Order: sequence, then structure tokens, then C-alpha cells
Amino acid sequence: MTIKNKVVVITGASSGIGRATAEKLAQSGAKVVIGARRVERLKEIANEFPAGQVLFQQTDVTDRESVNRLVKLATDNFERVDVLYNNAGLMPVSKMAELKVNEWERMIDVNIKGVLYGIAAVFPIMIKQKGGQIITTDSVAGHVVHPGTAVYAGTKYAIQAIMDGLRQEQVGNHIKTTMISPGVVNTELFSTISDPKQRAQTEKSEKETGLNAEDIANAVAYAIDQPANVAVNEVLLRPSSQII
Ligand SMILES: NC(=O)c1ccc[n+]([C@@H]2O[C@H](COP(=O)([O-])OP(=O)(O)OC[C@H]3O[C@@H](n4cnc5c(N)ncnc54)[C@H](OP(=O)(O)O)[C@@H]3O)[C@@H](O)[C@H]2O)c1
Repeated sequence: MTIKNKVVVITGASSGIGRATAEKLAQSGAKVVIGARRVERLKEIANEFPAGQVLFQQTDVTDRESVNRLVKLATDNFERVDVLYNNAGLMPVSKMAELKVNEWERMIDVNIKGVLYGIAAVFPIMIKQKGGQIITTDSVAGHVVHPGTAVYAGTKYAIQAIMDGLRQEQVGNHIKTTMISPGVVNTELFSTISDPKQRAQTEKSEKETGLNAEDIANAVAYAIDQPANVAVNEVLLRPSSQII
């Protein structure tokens, strides 16, 4: 079994990378269960496919019970979870001296704790079914830091540690881990930046030079579509024009 008929749960599926991935995997025959806060967007995606193939539920990844309910939607309907794609994230970048502590906390809650809640929700299921794959959207910012990205990059560096620790602990248990680490992608990610000048600059760079969300969806599909003995642990992809 590669992508067709796999049961895939995706967080942050209402826009950008999550949405493109949900559509790509559903087009490839997966059963997809999608979550995010903007439920009307999720409904729109589900309506693109035959009834019952794409299920959705309003989900806030900062709420552990909400993440558990999303995963339960998958097990109630499809009796398993083959892949969890922890993709929800936000990037309100700013210089540390600005002390935007609420934004720091928000990034920690969504980008780190949201991922941990996802892992906690599927872990017992994957252990019981003796296999599965946990994918998380990391970033080039999980490898390099710039002035202004300290906390965002910190959350993505944390994902590197968590996902590689998980990989090492689960070697031999048929639970694969994958980090997807994009450079700039043209999505709505800029919209959480509170400084108007920084937001406009990031939006411009996303729109002018960013990869398409579909390019990242292709990388996720590649990581899933592998024989049982092949674990694609990380895919790092930048626009060919991006230096760092
Ligand atoms: N775009 C880039 O240049 C880039 C580069 C590297 C990595 N990434 C990573 O890619 C991932 C996806 O971002 P994107 O670029 O596709 O941006 P996006 O279009 O803004 O998508 C972000 C997604 O996360 C969801 N989300 C945010 N807070 C949430 C919460 N509390 N609970 C549930 N869902 C939540 C949003 O849905 P709702 O608002 O409906 O909840 C949305 O579906 C993020 O982890 C981001 O860090 C992006």
C-alpha cells in the first residue's frame, strides 16, 4: 500500500501547504481527514471529492482534546491512521527586543505543542497497528536563523530534535518520521506578522520568489509513496533562487 487507500490526517489543512497536500493525496486515492480552525475552508476541500473520502473537523492544535477528536474522526471512520501530517504553523516574526511575548507563546503553542499533541494522539494507534508515518512541516528556519526569526526558528529547531529523537526511539517499530523543510513558499503564512512593513516585505518575497504549495505537496507525497523499508527522514527544498 503506497498512497492509495492510506488514511492520512492533516492539521493546518485550510490553506497553503496543508490544503495543497490534502488535495494531492486525495487525488491519489488516499482517505484524508483534515483539521484547522476555519471550518468553511475545510468543507470546501471535502466537497471537491466523492462523499466520505475527505472528512473534516474544526481543530485547534493548541487544544490537545481537539487534536484527539480529529484523530478519532479518522479511526471511527477508517479504523486506522497510516499517516499523521503535523502541518499547522504560524510565523509572526519580529526582533526579540520588541518583546512580542504573546506571539512567542503562540508560536510555541502551535508550532511545538501542536506537533506534540499530534504525536501523542496517533502514537498509541500506530504502536497497536504496528506501523505508521509521522510527518511534520519543519523549515529551512529549522537549520538557519536570521535576525528577526529567533523564536520562529527556535520552534522549527525544536521540531528537528523532537522528530529525530522520535525516529531514533522508534527504529525497528515500523513508525517512520519525516520532516518537510521548505524555504520560501507562496502561502498565507505572512499574514500572522504584526509589523506592517515586515508583513509587506515577506508577502512580496513569498509571492515573487516562493515555491508553490503544490511543490511541497509533491514532496509529502514522495515521502509517503515509498516501500515499507524506506524512510525519507527529511526533504529540504528551496526555490532555486533562494540563497540561505
Ligand atoms: N510559507 C512558507 O514560506 C513556509 C516555509 C517553511 C515552513 N512553512 C511551514 O509550513 C506550514 C504551513 O504553513 P503555510 O505556509 O501553508 O501557511 P498558511 O497558508 O498560513 O497555513 C497555515 C495553516 O495552519 C493552520 N493553523 C494555524 N494555527 C492553527 C491552530 N491553532 N490550529 C489549527 N490549525 C492552525 C491554518 O489554519 P486556520 O487558520 O484555519 O486554523 C492554516 O491552515 C507551517 O508549519 C509553516 O511554519 C512555511
